[in-house]
Amino acid sequence: MKPSRQQAEKLTTSEVPHDVTPAASDARSEPEVVRDRQATLSEYDYSNFFYGAGDDPFDILEPFHDWFANAKPAGYYLFGQPMHTAPGTRVSIVEKKTNRKLKDLINLASYNYLGLSCRQEVIEAAREAIGRYGTGAAGSPILSGTFDIHEELAEKLARFKNKESALIFPTGYSANLGAIAGLMRSGDLVVTDQYAHASIVDGIILSKARVRYFRHNRAPDLDRKLRDFAGKKLVVIEGVYSMDGDLAALPEIVEVCRRHGARLMIDEAHSTFLFGTNGRGVAEHFGLEDDIDIHFGTFSKSLGGIGGFVAGNKALMLYLKGFARSRVFSCGLPPGVVAGLIKAIEIVEAEPELRARLWENVGTTQHLLRKAGVDIGASESQVIPIMIRDDERIFAIAEEMIHAGVYLNPVRYPAVGKHQSRLRISVTASHTEEELKEGVTIIAKVLERNGLCR
Ligand SMILES: Cc1ncc(COP(=O)(O)O)c(C=O)c1O
Repeated sequence: MKPSRQQAEKLTTSEVPHDVTPAASDARSEPEVVRDRQATLSEYDYSNFFYGAGDDPFDILEPFHDWFANAKPAGYYLFGQPMHTAPGTRVSIVEKKTNRKLKDLINLASYNYLGLSCRQEVIEAAREAIGRYGTGAAGSPILSGTFDIHEELAEKLARFKNKESALIFPTGYSANLGAIAGLMRSGDLVVTDQYAHASIVDGIILSKARVRYFRHNRAPDLDRKLRDFAGKKLVVIEGVYSMDGDLAALPEIVEVCRRHGARLMIDEAHSTFLFGTNGRGVAEHFGLEDDIDIHFGTFSKSLGGIGGFVAGNKALMLYLKGFARSRVFSCGLPPGVVAGLIKAIEIVEAEPELRARLWENVGTTQHLLRKAGVDIGASESQVIPIMIRDDERIFAIAEEMIHAGVYLNPVRYPAVGKHQSRLRISVTASHTEEELKEGVTIIAKVLERNGLCR
């Protein structure tokens, strides 16, 4: 659908106030009522502005700008509100609609699953490395951007993952891009889960390989999608799905891939350093590490840093070193980050109790939410969706939660399917039982007020 100028004008005349006056204090209060929120949100979303009319690529900017002027106070302001504290268990944010500071919210929004971004030893290691090496790597990893600590990190990680070799990328996003597009070519086939992360999808697009999507976690459908294709085949799945928190049906998927002679890659962005006896991920959890050809992970979640990696056999890493363009043509990770990551992996290895604490917290939170009648979908992990399934009300409910004292993220189409709106929360090892109980009580109260508890 191409929004016309007239349509955009219709939107700007709807009665959404632009000038919400900041309240005098930082205190929490009931949310402002945005009139005509429904009209603003239900008619359009980002997907309406993908294609624009006209011959100038900039033709789309004005209609988008006009729509966003209304959509922002109606709910989109909830994205990217600046935090004024570390992503610990309590945070302060600036509410973008009113410019008010909201203090001491229970943070259920960050990926800091093991609390490592706030660990003193990690911070000290990063500080020391910045003092020694400076702030940036100042070069591509294949040129001058590899320091001794980059090599140490790659070796340490390969040992941790129990793989021959590992390759470090600037981000998890670029690791998926580089690995998939580095290996697959036009005429090959990549099959992935319908809920695959954008970085997997973008990697496939960049590779120019043919793509087929199989129904979420359904091995029989994967089987169908792999039939009737004679060439090179790669299957890409996630260990823990990032919007639902459920686990890959790995045993069944491995069996199907084996039968079709397809290579298997697993994105363990939300599961490396957490799942399995040694924290190696969902592949370890299922005892199927050797049945997977490409192991992917990120440093941005459980380790609280930034960067991504793939791990596997030496020949694959050597090839990707030359052909993963998102790594070749991008700068190496900053030395402070690298030193922090080395320390973070050491902590993961030395303190299995961190994982135990996380799973205890996940169990407590899921139990309390279910007991309160909250629909948490099929979550089996620290990623817990609070299913709202109402695209019209999702932002208003998220706003109410934040004002009531819990920081979390709304997720709406096109990030998930239509009528699949949800609030996504993440539990960490650092949360205290009291914080989790308080958080669940607030969530349940807001849902009850909105008639959304079962
Ligand atoms: C499943 C999955 N893969 C890859 C990524 C990209 O990782 P990063 O944010 O470290 O670039 C994400 C990020 O959210 C993710 O959820």
